[in-house]
Order: sequence, then structure tokens, then C-alpha cells
Amino acid sequence: MCGIAGYIGYRDAYPIVIKGLQRLEYRGYDSAGILLFDKDVSISKTKGKVSDLEAIMINGIFKKGSIGFGHTRWATHGVPNNVNSHPHVSNSGELVIIHNGIIENYDAIKKELIKRGYTFQSDTDTEVLVNLIEEVKKTHDCKLGKAVQIALNQVIGAYAIAVFDKAKPDEIIVAKLGSPIAIGIGKENKEFFVASDASPFIEYTKDAIYLEDEEMAIIRKNKEIKIRKIKDDSLITPQVQELKMNLEQIEKGGYDHFMLKEIHEQPNAITDTYRGRLIADQGIIRLSGVDNNLEKFTNANRIIIVACGTSWHAGLVAEYLFEDFARIPVEVEYASEFRYRNPILTEKDIVIAISQSGETADTLAAIKLAKEKGAFVYGVCNVVGSSIARESDAGSYTHAGPEIGVASTKAFTTQITVLSLMALRLANVKGTMSSSKYHMYLQELELIPQKIASLLKIDDHIKEIAKTYLLSNNCLYLGRGFNFPVALEGALKLKEISYIHAEGYPAAEMKHGPIALIDDRMPVFVIAINKGHYEKVVSNIQEIKSRKGKIIAVVTEGDTQVKEIADHVIEIPETEEAFTPLLTTIPLQLLSYHIAVMRNCNVDQPRNLAKSVTVE
Ligand code: F6R
Repeated sequence: MCGIAGYIGYRDAYPIVIKGLQRLEYRGYDSAGILLFDKDVSISKTKGKVSDLEAIMINGIFKKGSIGFGHTRWATHGVPNNVNSHPHVSNSGELVIIHNGIIENYDAIKKELIKRGYTFQSDTDTEVLVNLIEEVKKTHDCKLGKAVQIALNQVIGAYAIAVFDKAKPDEIIVAKLGSPIAIGIGKENKEFFVASDASPFIEYTKDAIYLEDEEMAIIRKNKEIKIRKIKDDSLITPQVQELKMNLEQIEKGGYDHFMLKEIHEQPNAITDTYRGRLIADQGIIRLSGVDNNLEKFTNANRIIIVACGTSWHAGLVAEYLFEDFARIPVEVEYASEFRYRNPILTEKDIVIAISQSGETADTLAAIKLAKEKGAFVYGVCNVVGSSIARESDAGSYTHAGPEIGVASTKAFTTQITVLSLMALRLANVKGTMSSSKYHMYLQELELIPQKIASLLKIDDHIKEIAKTYLLSNNCLYLGRGFNFPVALEGALKLKEISYIHAEGYPAAEMKHGPIALIDDRMPVFVIAINKGHYEKVVSNIQEIKSRKGKIIAVVTEGDTQVKEIADHVIEIPETEEAFTPLLTTIPLQLLSYHIAVMRNCNVDQPRNLAKSVTVE
């Protein structure tokens, strides 16, 4: 959570930092602030979005300077208001900081600093940290870099910070533990960029360094960057990586919202996910992460999947896939619960961590725990070089491209694609699936992108349905088997972007409680494809209908039975049951999107949420 973007070089820092913050707003948008240095420090900050910050910076004087950094906040300590916005300044006014993360022992440090005469304006842990650095600098009579290092050795928690010292205005110090920092390197070290991910500087340089945990960097104009270990001060040789991301990928490309663009990108995203990995006509699946660890997978006692939110829903689909195809027992855990319940793990367990951002704090903590207990950790991440990807023993990227809309869409379907490939590969190696079935599944998976493309063409029909239900206060989503997780995901998509209360249930669970809610004002979205438990789902639909509930059913093309009972139907192309989640989820994404737009909600940046949840 929280985004940081900074610049030091020869250009005007203001437009670079502002544009950078806009690209990082997916990480939080409770407040925004910026520091610029041009002969003196100027700081502007405000509650609200980056656009609100731009609006208060009408006076051009404050926009000058070729060094600066900014912050977009997702509030943790202290309500979102002007005072709690970053940057924060030390008591002397000399040091300025921006911070992404949480300093857990800030209260004890704050009390100690108060005893020494420090005063605090805000309720934030960050203001405590900048004053701790100041106190260390004074008592040790040292330079900023050393003071940052000593101070960070005293804090517990997570941080990505950038610190500036008025007395040394040609330098920015950055440091990382738990929250990400990417540093863009300009030609001949004439300029440097600092950010929570590489998107703010993609048009300026393709050379980037991703700091590792407990590393700090001293960045000076026209000097080689210096990276040190925070613990023991040892020098690290910077590993410069070439960025593959391009500008087009992080812009809206003519769509009204990133979410809509990302829904429509799914055919290409899934093709990118299986490109070079699925060679259907030859019956080949290549996944180096699995292939290099085949023995571990085939001898595994069980697979434990850890994830949060939408990624957890993809994990639930994977449970069906791995158990059905490869006959490996699977448990799916909320990472936030798993990490705290002393789980029983052995070396014969495989823990799969699923995460779009690769930065989710609970998922990261869960895999660290799993590694400590000897399990083999496999990461399924989208963001290349992210913390979870780096922490995993092996893994597969989803290659969905940047997902900027806060609500996950293409991340979900590409995660399911990777997990399908893994399950099929293992089924083939273990001999748990006949060769003919295996080949058929490969052919079918290859066709999914074109089936999604055809499904996206019925967007107008879905928009019409959205109009009917946009004023609902509650909705239910039902599905069975492979589509039970899709029901959960459909409900999550609706509630997070339209603020309508929605619940997902396995259809057969209705009669154990939720059916009491059904009346003529309750829309029920039912996934009733002609596979698996179709007849049973039809009975569930009848039960709802006889209690006057409104039925919106996702059915297979050509369905006649459900069509007769449902108020609205949305048809999906025929496919194998195991791959239906890749199709049934699409109309539910579109429905949520249209309902949210019609309710005037901020679709890409829903209230209280952030894309990358780097705090517990
Ligand atoms: C919902 C959504 C969240 C994320 C969750 C995990 O649309 O986006 O529920 O799925 O915060 O995030 P990642 O996948 O980045 O670990």
C-alpha cells in the first residue's frame, strides 16, 4: 500500500513525480503529497487524490526543482487528512521522508522521542521514523545515510522509504524491507528515478535495480549508485535488470476505465500466459518451474495453496483442477489465517502462493513460514521480480501484463490458466489422466482466448441486464463444482466496485440458510452451465423462483431448460467443465463493471481499497 515516486537529475522533477504518482494510485489514494527542492524545500500535500494535489499546486513557484519525491497514501496509522499526508518533516525541518509500510514499534519510539523533547503533528508512524533518524543523526554526529541505517536497525515493521536532507540536497536515500522499491538508472548516472514499481519511469529508462529486503541505496546526481546492507553496512554490487514493460501497457488505450480495458485484454493475456508453454498439437506442456522440480511435485503428499482475495478464488479453482486431474490432495488457505495458526507442514508438502502483485504482505509471510518449516514454495505471480516471486523456490509468471484497475480481472483468468497448465502437466507425468483426455484438454485450453473474445461481444446485452439491477441493495451468487469459486469471485467483484452487498455460495448451501433472504427484491446470479451438476442447479433455481427471487443465469449456448425459468440468461460458449470458470467469470466481471459505472462509482479506484496490500 502507498506509492512512492521520486526523481533526481537534470529535468524538472514535478511532472515526473506527479505522473509517477498517478500511475501508482492503484496502491492507495487517501492523500497525496510532494517534496521539491530548488534552493529551498517546498512541500505540498493534501487529503484526496493526486489530482487534488495538482489542484492545490496552482502557483508555479512550488513546482520547481530537479530533485523531488512524492507519495500517494493508503491510510494505516492516522485518518486520511492533510496533516497525516506524506511527506513528513523532522522537528528541525531539515529531514523529509516518504514511507510505504508500517513501523510496528513506533509507539515506543515516539514515547522515547517525546521524552527527549520531540513534538509530533500527525498520528503517523512515519513522522516518528523521520524524527528517529534526526535524533540518530544528532547523537551520532553522522551523515544522513549512516543515520538512516542506524535508525532502521532499531525499527520493527515494513518500509520502503525515501529520505531527503536539506543540508545535502544532491542526494536521496532509499531503503527497503517488506515493501518494494525500484530504482531507474538514467544514462551515465545523470539521473535516477525511485518508485514503488517501474511504471513511473518506463518512458525514461529501461535499466532498473530492485532493492532487496534490508538494503538501502545512496543516490546522488552524476555518481555511481551505492547499495548497502542495512544490517552490517556491507556494499552490494547492483544488479541492473532490463525492463520489459512498455508505456502502452500502462495506459487506458481508448477504454473509459482500466478495468474495462483489462477485461477486454483477457483473450490476449491468456494467450500470453500459455505462449511457449502449451503446444497443443504435440501434446506438450512446458513449465520450467514444474519441469525442474518434477520429482517434488510427483512425490508431494499434498499441495497447500495460500493467497488472498481474488487470488484465493483462483486457488479454489485450482483445488478442483489438481485433485481432479493429477489426484494430488489440495488445501486452500487464506494466507492471513495460515501464517498465524502454526500449520503442520513437512518437506513433502508443496505450498503454492498465488498473487497478482507478488507483494501481498500476508501471502509473503505465509511462504516465509512455509519455507522455515521445510516446504517447497511455488509462486504464481504476475509482477515480474516481485517479492513473492523472489522468495519462492520456483514458480511460473502469469504474464498478464500490468493490471492497474484495483479489481482483479485478467489476473484471475491468467492465474487459472497457469494452474490448469500445472495440473495437466502433472496429470500427464503421473498418468492420472488418459492420453486422449490429456490431448483433448490441451486443444480445448488453446481455444479459450477465442471463446472469451466471442463472449465479450455480448457486452451490450450484459449492460441491459445491469440496468435492471443497479439499484439493488443485496445480491446472491451461486455456483457448484468448478464454478463455486466463480460465484465467490462474482460477488467480490460486485461488492468491491459498486458497494452493493453481495454474497457467493455453493448453490446447494442455499437451503441451509441463505434461502431465507430470497424475496422479489433479491437478484440471484446463478452459474448453470450444462456440465457437472446441471440438474441440481436447475432445482436450486426452481427453489429461488418459487420464492420470487430474480434469476440471472449464466448458461451454456443453446440451453433451453434454464431459459424457461430465468429472468435473464447470458450464454457462454461450450467448453470442458474444468475450463468453464475462464468463461463464466467474464459476464460477471462485465456486470459488476456496468453496475458500478451506472452507480457513478470510481471503478478503477474503489473506496478504501488498494491494489497492492503490503500491510497486514
Ligand atoms: C479483488 C482483488 C483483491 C486481490 C487481493 C490479493 O479484486 O484484487 O482481492 O486479489 O488483494 O492480491 P494479490 O493477488 O496481489 O496478492
